[in-house]
Amino acid sequence: MDRRLISVIHGPNLNLLGEREPDVYGSETLDDIDGALGGLARELGVDLECFQSNSEGEIIDRLHSCSGRADGVILNAGAYTHYSIAIRDAIAAIRPPVVEVHLSNVHAREDFRRVSVIAPVCVGQISGFGSTSYLLALEALARACKERS
Ligand code: DQA
Repeated sequence: MDRRLISVIHGPNLNLLGEREPDVYGSETLDDIDGALGGLARELGVDLECFQSNSEGEIIDRLHSCSGRADGVILNAGAYTHYSIAIRDAIAAIRPPVVEVHLSNVHAREDFRRVSVIAPVCVGQISGFGSTSYLLALEALARACKERS
């Protein structure tokens, strides 16, 4: 059987992790997170690709590129989570399941962060575990791939 591909998409301002509000988002950098994801992907026997963009259009293009190519997507859409109907529509339009992740617990912060316009079209949401949110999402998608095979 072909190896499964999981695509990770990091949204706006996540390139600043490590220096950006460390009390909220921790001290790990995006490279640290991608490195940890790479290690777990090897253990789970899945292929992984990581991408970051601050631009809504580039995130949408990346989601489109996942259709027919990736077996699952891990998406931290950053602030776009709370208002981008265009990203929501892109998730609904593609085939692979998308897991919504957040480093912080968006439900324990400002009211506007409690709203996720993408949650209804994602398979699940993992929020509040720092970089472990991404690792849990990878584990969940790898399991789902196994169950489907
Ligand atoms: C975030 C939460 C969002 O509300 C925020 O805009 C981010 C990061 C998180 O990972 O906790 O940029 O998605």
